[in-house]
Order: sequence, then C-alpha cells, then structure tokens
Amino acid sequence: MEDEEEKLFAREVANSRRVNENLGYGIGIFQAGSNLFLNGVVMGTLYAGGSLLATNQLKAGDLMSFLVAAQTIQRSLAQLSVLFGYYVRGISAGARVFEFVKLEATIPVKGGRIIPYHTMMGTIEFDRVSFAYPTRPHQTVLKNFSLRIPAGRVVALVGASGGGKSTVAQLVERFYDVDGGAIRIDGSDIRSLDPAWLRGRVVGFINQEPVLFATSIMENIRYGRPDASDNEVREAAKMANAHEFVEAFPRGYNTTVGERGVTVSGGQKQRIAIARALLKNPKILILDEATSALDAESEAIVQAALEQCIQGRTVLIIAHRLSTIQNADVIAVMSHGRLAEIGTHEGLKKLGGIYADLIRQQQRDDKTGKNVKVEKTDKVNTPASWAL
Ligand SMILES: Nc1ncnc2c1ncn2[C@@H]1O[C@H](COP(=O)(O)OP(=O)(O)OP(=O)(O)O)[C@@H](O)[C@H]1O
Ligand SMILES: [Mg+2]
Repeated sequence: MEDEEEKLFAREVANSRRVNENLGYGIGIFQAGSNLFLNGVVMGTLYAGGSLLATNQLKAGDLMSFLVAAQTIQRSLAQLSVLFGYYVRGISAGARVFEFVKLEATIPVKGGRIIPYHTMMGTIEFDRVSFAYPTRPHQTVLKNFSLRIPAGRVVALVGASGGGKSTVAQLVERFYDVDGGAIRIDGSDIRSLDPAWLRGRVVGFINQEPVLFATSIMENIRYGRPDASDNEVREAAKMANAHEFVEAFPRGYNTTVGERGVTVSGGQKQRIAIARALLKNPKILILDEATSALDAESEAIVQAALEQCIQGRTVLIIAHRLSTIQNADVIAVMSHGRLAEIGTHEGLKKLGGIYADLIRQQQRDDKTGKNVKVEKTDKVNTPASWAL
C-alpha cells in the first residue's frame, strides 16, 4: 500500500499548496494596491507641496514629517496583510482544537452516591437491558438482556463474535448509558452511583485489547490506583505472575513499554493489565479475554494468574477458551443480544443447544490443529537431518 499512501499524501500536499498560493496572491494584491494608493498620495503631496513651499504656506519640516508618517503607514499595512494570513491559518488549525475543548461528557465523570465499603457485596444485575451504540443507533446490540451475577461468583459469558459480550462489560463500567432497562450493583442503579468511584474503586476491567502507555511498567501498573506505593505495585505484579519477567528486564520496573506497549509480548501485556486491575483490589472483576491466541505456556501462566485473583470477588469472564469456561460457576450464553442459555458446563452440554455447538466446534478446531497446543517438555526433538 506504500504507493497508494504516497499518492494520497501527494494529493493532500498539492491541495495545501494550492490554498497557500491563493493566500499568497491575496496578500500580494492587497500589498500592491495599498502601496499604489499610498505612493499616489505621497506623489500628490509632493506635487502640491512644491507649490505650497514656494508660497511659504508649508514649512519644509512639516512636509518631511508627513512623508515619514506616510511611509510608516505603508509598512504597517504590509505587515497587516501578512498577519491576516497567519490569522486565517490559525483559525483553521484551531477549529479542530476548539472542537475538542467544547466537547462535554454525556456521562458526568464525578458526582453521585457511593456504597460504603463494608456494606458492598458486589452483586451485578442486568435487568432487561437494551442498548445501541450512539454512533449506530439503528443497530440494537442488546435486546432485553437479563442476567444476575451473585456476589463472589464467577460467571462466564460466551457467544458468537460480535454478539455483544464486550459491550456488556463496557456497560458495567458505564462507558455508555443503557437505552432501556437498568444495570444494578447491590440493588442500586449504576446511573445513581459516582462514576469515578465505580471505575476507580469497584470495577477492575481487563480489556480485550489491553492499553499500555508509553511510560515505565511501574507507572503503567500504577494507573490502576495512582496513590499506590512501589511495594504495592510489586505485590500486584506478583499476583498477576508478572513480577518475574519484569525483574528479568535489565531495567526492571523502569523499563518503558513503548507506544501502546509495542515492546512487550502479548502475554506480558495481558499480565501487566491484570496487575493494574488487581492493584485497586476491586470487588468486581471483569475480564475480557483476548482472542489472540497465546501459546500453551503463556496461556497457562495467564490462567494461573487469573485463578489467584478471582478469589473473593464477583467475576465476569468473557471467555473464548474452553479452559477458562470450565472454572466458572455458571455459564451464560449470549445470542443476538439476548441471554440464550444459562447453566453449568455439563448441564449446557447435555442441553445440546448453542453452547454444545460451540464446544464441539472448538474441540474440532483443536483436533484439526487450528489451536495447536504445544506441550512443554524438556526434551529437545531435533530431527536427524538437523543434527549435523
Ligand atoms: N464503539 C462502537 N460503536 C458502534 N458499534 C460498535 C462499537 N463497538 C462494537 N460495536 C458493534 O456492536 C456489536 C457487538 O460488539 P461486541 O464488541 O460487544 O462483540 P463481542 O461479543 O465482544 O465480540 P468478540 O467475541 O469478537 O469480542 C458488533 O456488531 C459491533 O460491530
Ligand atoms: Mg469482544
């Protein structure tokens, strides 16, 4: 695509050149016009001044001061036209900045009730929730979605890709407000709760595509709770099975991860994200599993990290892998924005519905090698032809 992109860029550059040329012409014409006019005035004065000087009606000094003043005006006008050019450029560049300055959050960032820590249980209830993204109001993502997650339980949410699983997670964080129905935490509608407290203290969210910032690993984890000490960050990293690999980096926790975390592997990125979520010790943990296949070993490590951190919390796992699903107390199956089936792994398998299909499909993929699991062994299998 390099050639195509070059062409697109060249087109934009040509556009910008044309606009700049027009501006240049404008400034030129204005300067020429004002010069012509002012010089005309000067010429006329000189002509008339000559005869006035001769009859002693005008002193030579007065004529001189007039000429100097006329020249100053001329220079100022020339500068004014250049300034006008800057103004035009500034306004068009600023328009985009002002667009953002003027934006107001539809969901307030602060303000609202909080549930005192000692009475907080962590029950989540979706009560006939309907929702469509504001950018696509005609595509209903959730229709009458109802689900109750009792405090301290692990619920796995499964379903077809694009079925609305990640949307459910985003709604608990209140990134969007529901269009119909309600989401309640311990019986309180989340619209009545303080969003800053909800996001900062209650819900730990491990995103499907974890976002790391171009700073050190220490600071990246600390995003979970900005007032955490270095030691607390290390403890969270240990719980997330991240401590070891971080320590193995030459600069340890001071290692910078690059823009969007490009300098750490997928599994490492996930573990940093898990540590970040754990740092705030949330009552509710939402895990949106990444679909990107981790190899068997890193999957096992991430899995072990997760098992440690689901203790004592209400957990919603959006699962793509069989291994995670089997740990859940209850499995909820989503289809077309609704809750289609709910039950245990065995129960749903017997039911022979959507879940049974999903399981069959995954097992078939495993057999045909689409999700090849490499067993970790110490033996190195070197083919004879390599052992020269
Ligand atoms: N920000 C958005 N704006 C508009 N539509 C969106 C947005 N995010 C997702 N959608 C749409 O909402 C639907 C549900 O998306 P969602 O991300 O919840 O699916 P999912 O079940 O998590 O899928 P996957 O298993 O692939 O992660 C999709 O049809 C998607 O195109
Ligand atoms: Mg998703």
